[in-house]
Parts: sequence; structure tokens; C-alpha cells
Amino acid sequence: MRKPMLAGNWKMNKTRDEAISFILAVEGKLPDSVDCVVCAPAIILRDLVKRRTTLQIGAQNMNQNDSGAYTGEISPVMLRDTEVEYVILGHSERRAYYNETNESVNAKIKKALEFDLKPIVCVGEVLEEREAGSTNAVLKEQITKGFDGVKISNPENVIVAYEPVWAIGTGKSATSEMAEDACSYIRSVLKDMYGEAISNNIRILYGGSVNTKNVNELMSMPNIDGGLVGGASLKADSFVELCNACAK
Ligand code: PGA
Repeated sequence: MRKPMLAGNWKMNKTRDEAISFILAVEGKLPDSVDCVVCAPAIILRDLVKRRTTLQIGAQNMNQNDSGAYTGEISPVMLRDTEVEYVILGHSERRAYYNETNESVNAKIKKALEFDLKPIVCVGEVLEEREAGSTNAVLKEQITKGFDGVKISNPENVIVAYEPVWAIGTGKSATSEMAEDACSYIRSVLKDMYGEAISNNIRILYGGSVNTKNVNELMSMPNIDGGLVGGASLKADSFVELCNACAK
């Protein structure tokens, strides 16, 4: 009932020409039964939106204000105007390097929904938190504070990505059991906040060293609805393979 999704997070990679070559290379090879998305650097979003086919386009961050004196920032108005569909919010790199907090993520989720952008909200524990046995407590805090006061009328437009920070870019993916445990816990927290019907329709992705070898096992888990993929989304071939794995 939940449509699978594979979102590539390109981070600070790819020039305009490289991104356009990627779009041409994946064209006609992506499954309709999966929402296939790339979240690209803001400066090339317009070029990608103009050329999108089955591939959908997202941004990697957004300011929570409509406009104003925020040098270097990109507003929800601008993303709407660029006609992107998705926006990643609260990625662990932004939490770690750019002071993103549960409170700012909360304001951004509200703004994204106000402007009909589909938020991909990232949560996840760092290694010390996992080792201390506090993973669920961390996830609960990130979800309850991140979604505090957020009204969800179309749950299919809200995506949560569980990304254990220790698994991102390290080649050390969580096991499928660990990922499933965390995703099912996240769904239970959402159920407490929004009830069963809504929580059952919110897609929950796993992210952190997803690749063409581990994707099938991760995708076989009942509460994992797709992947948020960094490194392995940069090459057209592996992106296509990952998207097709999500169709199974
Ligand atoms: P990775 O990154 O797939 O390279 O681990 C995932 C992410 O940061 O979203």
C-alpha cells in the first residue's frame, strides 16, 4: 500500500553537465512503481526539473523563512518556484555542521508542507547513543520534537528517513534487522502522534551505506519502504539498479 521510494542524496557533488548526463543515462530505465528521486545541489535544480521524466527532483535543505536577510539561504518560495517536489530536512550532516536542531527541523517541516513540498525528514542516532542503548530514546525525541504541531493531511507526502549516523558514508550499513527495528519503532511513535491510518501511510526509508548488494535484504523488511542513498546514487547504473530493487 505504501509506494516504494528511492531517493538519491547527491550532497555537494556533480556539476550541471554531470547531472544532465546522469538524467540522460537513467531515462527510460526507472520503474513506474517506485518514486525515484534525486536531491541535487540547489544551483542545478532548475536545469534538472526542466529535463525530468520519471525521475523526480528534490532539494537538500531549505530555510524556514519565506524571504529576508538570510545570506546564502534558499527559501520555500524559491523551491516552490523551481518546481522541485521534495526537500531533505534535518540530514545528520546539517545537524552536525550547520546547527540544525529538532526545533529548526520542526519549523522547516511546517513550511515545506505549507508550500506543497514533500519533506524527507532525517533522524538517526550517533554511535555513542547506539552503544549506550539510547537509540529509541533519540529517535523518539527527534520525531516528537520534529513533528510537534505538524498537521498531516496527506501522509503519502511525508517521508521519514532513518539514517544511523555511524552508517553514513562508512560502508558499514545497519543490518536489516537493526534497520527494521528502528523503522518499526519510528512508525510506532508516529502512530502515537497521528493514529494508525496516517502512520501506516507515511513512508519510512533507511539510509546509511545502502548499495546494490544490501538493498534487496533491506527492502524485504516490512517497515522499510525504500532508501535514502548517498554514495551509491552518484553513478547512473547503480542508481537504476537500486530503483529497480525497490520495485520488487
Ligand atoms: P551514504 O549516505 O549512502 O553515502 O551512506 C546516505 C546519506 O547521507 O543520506
